[in-house]
Order: sequence, then structure tokens, then C-alpha cells
Amino acid sequence: MKEKRGEFSSRLGFIIAATGSAVGLGNVWGFPTNTASNGGAAFVVTYFFLAFLLAYPALMAELVIGRCTRANIYSALENISATPLSRWSGRCIGAYAIAVATAILSFYSLVAGWMLAHLLASASELAGNTAVQNWLERASLARNLLCAGVFSILTVTVVSHGVQRGIERWSERLMPALLLLLIVLIIYVLQQPGAMTGLSLYLLPDFSEVFHPSLLLSALGQAFFSLSLGVGTMLIYGSYVRREDNLPALGAWVTLVDTSVAFLAGLLIIPALFVAQELGITIYRDGSLIAGPDLIFQVLPTLFDSMGANGTVVALAFFLLMTIAALTSSISMLEVPVALIAEKTPLSRVTASWLAGSLVFGASAGIAANFDTLFSLVVTLTTEYSQPLLGIALCMFAGWVLHRDRLLAEIRAGFDGVEQSLFWKIWPFYVRVICPLLIGAAFLQSIIQ
Ligand code: PHE
Repeated sequence: MKEKRGEFSSRLGFIIAATGSAVGLGNVWGFPTNTASNGGAAFVVTYFFLAFLLAYPALMAELVIGRCTRANIYSALENISATPLSRWSGRCIGAYAIAVATAILSFYSLVAGWMLAHLLASASELAGNTAVQNWLERASLARNLLCAGVFSILTVTVVSHGVQRGIERWSERLMPALLLLLIVLIIYVLQQPGAMTGLSLYLLPDFSEVFHPSLLLSALGQAFFSLSLGVGTMLIYGSYVRREDNLPALGAWVTLVDTSVAFLAGLLIIPALFVAQELGITIYRDGSLIAGPDLIFQVLPTLFDSMGANGTVVALAFFLLMTIAALTSSISMLEVPVALIAEKTPLSRVTASWLAGSLVFGASAGIAANFDTLFSLVVTLTTEYSQPLLGIALCMFAGWVLHRDRLLAEIRAGFDGVEQSLFWKIWPFYVRVICPLLIGAAFLQSIIQ
């Protein structure tokens, strides 16, 4: 017999799981990196603005479709469609979203594997095993496959235990640990010489930069990636929310926590760069702060090395933080194909999880073996092209395809008096017209450039 469909046990359970999905490498790495290469605080201000103005309404579109259909994205978009044409496009868009979620997970697991490698390397250093430490620190295909494989097994194990016993329980264990590590690291770094220079660059905006088109685009892309939008993750998590819960409030919490954690991560990374500079490490290249992989895998490790005995413990804490952030996000990505397989075939959740996990690992191995050609291609195709386009499609489905009465009834189930609320006055028009136009405009500009 088929297992019962999962459900989060409480509002808090959902908020923690969904922020676990949202808070990932995108926050701890992407956000500070983007801040570093887009004029510091000007980027921070624009990002917060866009997160609430564009990403929150799009997040609501996914949550509402998910809860009202209680299905994976493929069946959900089909279910809310009234005409054969919209049913057909719903199925195509759903299938495309699942493919993109899977592709994102395949490069994400590789990057998470690097974090795990550095975490284990710091642990080996503490244990005095230099040979293992050196092997883990040096990039090689064998190391990348091994670490991505271990990370994929962790992801599959959590997802195979289901919504409450897997996703919710592990998010509840890992997210407080993540927050604690982040705060301890911030306190430590802010006490080091040089940190205040970084802090002022991070906190004092140069408003002349705010309306720069490339800054707007990076901030929009960052907000979409960070809130896990467009690929059915938030839709499937929304489908596990209890009917009596207030969706607009839940969505607002997730946006608030996600942006706050991104802000906190910036308080760690940007000052850490200037602590590194104080110790004589180069942090500028061609006039701008070093960003991308070099920041995480060269500048920061050099900084940890030069901190003496404390450095190893700080490195361990930092890479543990990164690994946890990646894991709570990767489980939400794997849930997208797993929900489809478990709901559309007779296979159990456990089998579906191992099947989807093996497929993803195969794709990760393919990318690892052809890294120079495939890695940035897959990142660009999924995050820069597909996520905004799918975001537009999901807003249109919530705004135009999902019947207004059904939409209202769904939100009203957990939000008495929604008709009189500011949310209901603004959001339906917003998600129908403004979001698709603004996301579309930003997207067009990015491909014309
Ligand atoms: N939000 C995650 C992060 O910030 C990434 C993610 C993208 C997760 C898409 C799920 C779906 O790292």
C-alpha cells in the first residue's frame, strides 16, 4: 500500500525546513561574494528591497499552488489548469522545473563536496594526520567524487525518512547549529585587526551604485536563487503545510529569516577579507575584491593558516557551517524529483530517494569529469536562465490559471479576513502583472548585455 502523504507537524516545523532550504551556499557564499563585487552596502540595500518586492510575491505563488493542490510541481500545474492547452503547458513547465532542480543539485553537490573535503581536512589536521589532510585539501577527481558521493548519501538518507522524520527533524537539528556557528564566527572575526575596515565597506552604502543595471540584475538573481524559487522546491514544501496555517505570514517569515542570515553571513565574510589583508594576504584583483571560488578556497584558508593554532578550529567551524547550509538546501532540491516519483509511480519514498539520488550523483560525476566545459555552463543555464523564466511561469500560473475563488479559499483557510488585508489588495495583481513584467525585464536585459 502507498504511504500516507507527508505534512509538516507545525508552523515552526515548516519555517525551519523552508529557511533550511533557502539558507544555503547562496547565502553564505553567493551573497557576500556578490556584495564584494557589486559595491558593498549598495548591493545589500538593493538586495533587501528586491527580496521583499519581487521574491516574496513569487514565493507566495509557489506556496499557494503547492498547498492548494497538495502535489509535486508536475501534477500541481496540471491540476490547477482548466483547459487542455494550459494542462499541457503545466506538464511541460513542471517537467522542466524538475529537470532544473535536478541539474542544480548535481553541481550543488559537487560544491558541497568541496566544503566537506575542507571540513574533513581540518578534522584530520586536528587529529594530526597530515597525509589525509593534504589529500583532502588538494583538488582531484577522486577527492571530488568521493566527497560529493558522501554528501549525496547524506542527502538521500534524510529525504528517504520522509517529511516529518527526515526533512523537518534534520532541519530542526541543523539550523540552530548553523546559526550558532555563524554568530560565534562573526564575534571572533570582528575582534581581529582589520575587521572594522570591512565592516564599514559592508554597512555604508554608496547610493550612486544602487541603480546600476548590473547590480540590480545580480541582486535579483541572488534573491531568486537564495529563496530557492522557480524549481518547485517551495511549491513542494508548501504542499506539506497544514491547511489551518497562515501562508502569507509563513512566507514572510521565510523571506525575513533568509535575508537576515544572508546579512549575517556578510558580517562574517567581508570583515574576514580585511582581516586577511591586514595579515598581508592579497584580497583585491583587477581593482575589485576577490570573489568566487578563490575567496572561499584560497583567501579564507590562507587566513585560517595564518591564525596559528586557533586557525584550524576556525576553519573547522567555517566549513562545518558551509556543509550544514548546503545539506538543508540539497534535501529540498532532492525532494522535487522524489515527490514526483513517489506520487506518480508505485515506488516507495525510500526507493524513489535512492533512485533520484543516484541519478543526481551520475550527473555530478559527469560534471566533475568535464569540469571546464560543463560546470559554469550548467550553473548559467539553470540559475541565470531557467530560474527567472520558471519564476515568471509560476507567477502566471498563480495569477492567471489558478481560479481566483480557489486561490482566495486556499489563503482564507489559515487567514481569516484575508479579503480585507493589505496582502489581498496588492498581491493578486502584483503576481499577475508586475512580477512577470519586472522579472522579464531584468531577464531580457541580462541576455542582451
Ligand atoms: N537557496 C539555496 C541557497 O541559497 C539554493 C537552492 C536553489 C535551493 C534552488 C533549492 C532550490 O543556497
